[in-house]
Amino acid sequence: MRCPQSDHRLERVLISETRLRKRIRELAQAIVHDSDPARPLRLVAILKGAFVFAADLGREIRRCGGPPVRYDFIRAVTYGTTVGNGDTTDRQVRIEWAPDTLAGEDVVLVEDILDQGRTLAHVRDLLLGALRARSVRLCVLLDKRLDSPSPAVAARRQALPVDYVGFTIADRWVAGYGLDAAEEFRDLPFIAIVREEFFVNAP
Ligand code: IMP
Ligand code: MG
Repeated sequence: MRCPQSDHRLERVLISETRLRKRIRELAQAIVHDSDPARPLRLVAILKGAFVFAADLGREIRRCGGPPVRYDFIRAVTYGTTVGNGDTTDRQVRIEWAPDTLAGEDVVLVEDILDQGRTLAHVRDLLLGALRARSVRLCVLLDKRLDSPSPAVAARRQALPVDYVGFTIADRWVAGYGLDAAEEFRDLPFIAIVREEFFVNAP
């Protein structure tokens, strides 16, 4: 059997399974600590990338004695997403599927990775606006520190305080544990750095 680490399109493992598991347990503990034990917790995961993280996070919340978790999903597609740092000034977020309402709910919005911040800002505003959530906390597994963000991107990220961050990572394309490169690698149990030259022209 071919070992996933030996795929020539992956540069190296960035975050191992063991580190993921340990950090997700810590995030779950922090979320439980900040939550009202008498109220169910809504985890809203942004598809597709956050599905693995949200599944593990919900089970860790249960394991560490947290309130019952109810899941919802939002399918957000960010137009013009490319692997690497292309010209992304025309990116738009399209919501393809969302719950009808989250009226009165305390929501933890679960995202795989914070890059330019468009997806998370858009979905958070949707939850607090049209879907009428009572509160929204933001939880991202990976926070990408951008090398040279445009002033608009820097301002957007500044206006997006994240409550729970798993790992801060360098400005590289990563995949695995739900994250993809052109739809590949979501099934890897760890997070790896992708060799971007293999994916730059991917649709
Ligand atoms: P943002 O709107 O620029 O913050 O982009 C966030 C979205 O882009 C995430 O939900 C991911 O789907 C995707 N994305 C950004 N960077 C990466 C990466 O390094 N690997 C995989 N997906 C990424
Ligand atoms: Mg995503």
